[in-house]
Formats: sequence, structure tokens, C-alpha cells
Amino acid sequence: MSSAPGRYVLFGHPVSHSWSPFIHGLFARQFDHVVDYKVQDVSPGSFRHAVIDFFVQGGGGANITLPHKPAAAEIVNDLSARAERARAVNTIVRRSPTELYGENTDGAGLVTDLTRNLDAKLHGARLLILGAGGATRGILAPLLEEEPREVRIANRTQERAEALREEFSDLGEVSASGFDGVEDRPWDIIINATAASLAGEVPELPERVVGRDTVCYDLAYGRGDTVFMRWAQARGSQHAYKGWGMLVEQAAEAYLLWHGVRPETKPVMGALLRL
Ligand code: ATR
Repeated sequence: MSSAPGRYVLFGHPVSHSWSPFIHGLFARQFDHVVDYKVQDVSPGSFRHAVIDFFVQGGGGANITLPHKPAAAEIVNDLSARAERARAVNTIVRRSPTELYGENTDGAGLVTDLTRNLDAKLHGARLLILGAGGATRGILAPLLEEEPREVRIANRTQERAEALREEFSDLGEVSASGFDGVEDRPWDIIINATAASLAGEVPELPERVVGRDTVCYDLAYGRGDTVFMRWAQARGSQHAYKGWGMLVEQAAEAYLLWHGVRPETKPVMGALLRL
């Protein structure tokens, strides 16, 4: 057990609702680590200064959430290949007082949740991703590394989907369309990466895209089922999930980067369920 707690922070705007301090607190208890993990709400205008100040004051590492992930990628000295592809950083590792390394653990968290926790098969799967914003950009490379048969990016603004297709097609079989251009037969996995649920909406898709065995995964999470989950269940999916497993898994990846050990995630997910 270290005598002085390492200081860690989650920067976001807003951020007060975050479950990350709870998750990192439970991780730390698994190893008897003393970790001080707090949230800090900073506006986009003060983000850069806040990050530099935090590390100058001896901070050990930082997580970054909306809307600062792209800005964080501009601040660090070095980026992982995934963070570079994502053009977004959600974890900063302090390598020395003057050297900050940026990683993006979101995609790895999603892949681990899908494959290890939910037993979904990405290898050889036909995968439909709804949305073509920052969330989609953040998960594409790790998903394509699992070698799905096909990844379709469908977006309200088709040009944005086309742009991502061009950017990521060197990593696998990627296609792009509007929602109405999606083939009307059950997909193996559908991932909702749109912000539509914030407005209580689900994109308008052809009737038969969801089958009984289709895994429907909402990157969004909160208490209870999300609008997208209910939409999937109403179309017969037996496998509708929200993104809290991804939240816990991306946090475990960050914990590993900072502390050199990967915590058990199952007990933490259980604890979140009981909240
Ligand atoms: P994020 O970082 O969360 O991905 P973003 O970059 O603003 O945020 O992207 C939001 C995504 O949600 C986009 O794909 C957006 O579609 P457009 O590119 O057409 O704007 C999608 N989106 C937001 N509201 C939506 C809605 N009501 N219906 C369908 N898609 C929506």
C-alpha cells in the first residue's frame, strides 16, 4: 500500500453524474491501493490549462470525457495508434513530469464487453453501426481488429458515414449508407453510436434489421433500459444491452495503464446494478 495516494481525475463538462469515481474506488479496493480519483468540471476554454496544471501539481493520470476527448489528443506529447485513429483520448498517462501519453480505451472496453462478458462473436460477424460521429470514430479500429465479415456505418448524414468508410477501409470491409440504405435482414450485431437517444429517438431503420439473435448494443447507459434497448426488444431481440459494461471495461483498461494491474470487472458491474 502506498503512503501518499496517487491523484487521478476525470475531466468533463458536465461530469458530476459520472460513475467513474465509484468504479475506480472499487478497483482500488481489490488491490488495497490508495487512490484519490475525483471529477473536475472544466469548460472547453479552460481545459488545456486545467490538464497541464493537474500534471504540474503531480497528478498521476487523467480520464477525459465529453466534450474534451478530441482536445486531449492535441495536448499530449505522444498518442497510441488507436488514439491517433480515433483522434480522441480518454486516458492520459504521465510518463514523466513533462511527458504525457494519450490512449483511447473506449473501443477496447466495448470489444471486451461484447466478446468476454456478453459472449458475442465479432469475428466473421455482420456488424451495423448507427452514427458517424466521435463515438463511432473511437470504436472502429478496435472493432475491425476483431475481423468482422462486414461493418456497415449508417448515418442520418450519409456523407459523414462515407468519410469514415474511406478513413477506415484499410482495416477491413467497411461500407456506408443512410439509414434507409441498410439491408432489410437481421444483422448479427447492431451498435447504437448516435446521439439520437438524447432526444428519446431511435433512427428509422428497415423493419427486419433485428432478429431474435441480433445483439443490440447501445453505447449510452443510465438506470433502466435505454430507448434503443426497448426498440430492439420490441423487434424481438433477446440480446439488448446498454453501455455500462463498456464503461467498466474501459475504466479497467485505464487502471491497467496507470497501475500495471487489471482489476476484476464482474463484481464492479454487479455493484453498479445494485446502485
Ligand atoms: P458523438 O461524439 O456522441 O458521436 P457527434 O460527433 O455529435 O457526437 O455525433 C452524433 C451522432 O449522432 C451523429 O452520427 C449524428 O448524426 P448526423 O451526423 O446526421 O448529425 C447522430 N444523431 C444525433 N441526433 C440524431 C437523431 N435524432 N437521429 C439520428 N441520428 C442522430
